[in-house]
Amino acid sequence: MASLFNIGGSKPRPSTDRPSENKATTTATRTTRPTAIRVKSPVARTVSRGGSSKEMSEKTFNDLRQFIYQECGIYFNNNKKYLLEGRITKRLISLKLTTYDEYLQFLKQDKNRFELDKLFEAITINETFFYRAQQQYEAFENVIIPEIIERKRKNKELRPTIRVWSAASSSGEEAYTLALIIHDRLKRKYPNVNFQILGSDIDTAVLAKARAAKYKDYAIRNVPPNQLKKYFTKKDGVYLLNNEIKQYARFSQVNLFDTVAMRKIVQCDVIFCANVLIYFDTKAKQKVVSHLYNSLNRGGYLFIGYSESLHGVSKAFKLIHLAKAMAYYKE
Ligand SMILES: C[S@@+](CC[C@H](N)C(=O)[O-])C[C@H]1O[C@@H](n2cnc3c(N)ncnc32)[C@H](O)[C@@H]1O
Repeated sequence: MASLFNIGGSKPRPSTDRPSENKATTTATRTTRPTAIRVKSPVARTVSRGGSSKEMSEKTFNDLRQFIYQECGIYFNNNKKYLLEGRITKRLISLKLTTYDEYLQFLKQDKNRFELDKLFEAITINETFFYRAQQQYEAFENVIIPEIIERKRKNKELRPTIRVWSAASSSGEEAYTLALIIHDRLKRKYPNVNFQILGSDIDTAVLAKARAAKYKDYAIRNVPPNQLKKYFTKKDGVYLLNNEIKQYARFSQVNLFDTVAMRKIVQCDVIFCANVLIYFDTKAKQKVVSHLYNSLNRGGYLFIGYSESLHGVSKAFKLIHLAKAMAYYKE
């Protein structure tokens, strides 16, 4: 279906969901789980140029975190000012800017969104690896896919297409794990089914890595040895995923917080949106999850991370307990 996986890379800025200053403060205290934000690289938290040294003022911190929240839903709590400084210091140095306020003004005038992409790259955490959510993949393979195929066949789709979306795919490990499962077993069992995988992320740097599909030991450590041997080529200590697996997935920049972009992704059968909701406050989670709901077919399933929950976020889904995993079902 062209409308689903043919989405473009450009994206208009999302509609304003900027919380008020008071809201921002309450959001910080109301967040049920601490936002799992870590500093990406140990850079100094002050910008030193020519002997002068600047710290981010409270006002700039508030304005910048509101800007970030409005753009992508990631919210920096009151105690995360130093983390935010640490993440963007390199950007200031690279742009030869002296203060964080100058950086904020630069971002606001960034018409071609190049710096916005650099900001996303700096503030996101991209931790992932192959076969990260083993129990979910087992449920996907053994319960969900057979059920969806049976339903599609009952609806007279003799050569059905199954659309799977890895909605915060980072460097592609989740999307390619699904491709390995599909190619290695499901495709043999269901040769007439067309499987399509979309991997998306807000961070263009990780998407480039996903397309390159070159992985180090850490990423592939859970790949079964027979699959590693069959589907990867090892060269100079790097594992390159073979084209027969890569061909199932394609990657595109999608900001989950961007209503316009999210409306373009429709008719998914299964969505994996794992380990990203933790970075959002409740209001942002509600917005993102309602987008995901709209992107799913009736009878489709949503998987989120093991440490995440839709409690207090959405009542639209039915929580289904599968053998060892839980999934959210769209009736
Ligand atoms: C910790 S990784 C999770 C990767 C994978 N889903 C997994 O579970 O292994 C979180 C990813 O979410 C992405 N992300 C954060 N905010 C996002 C947003 N608003 N839209 C899309 N992706 C986002 C980050 O760039 C990052 O790659």
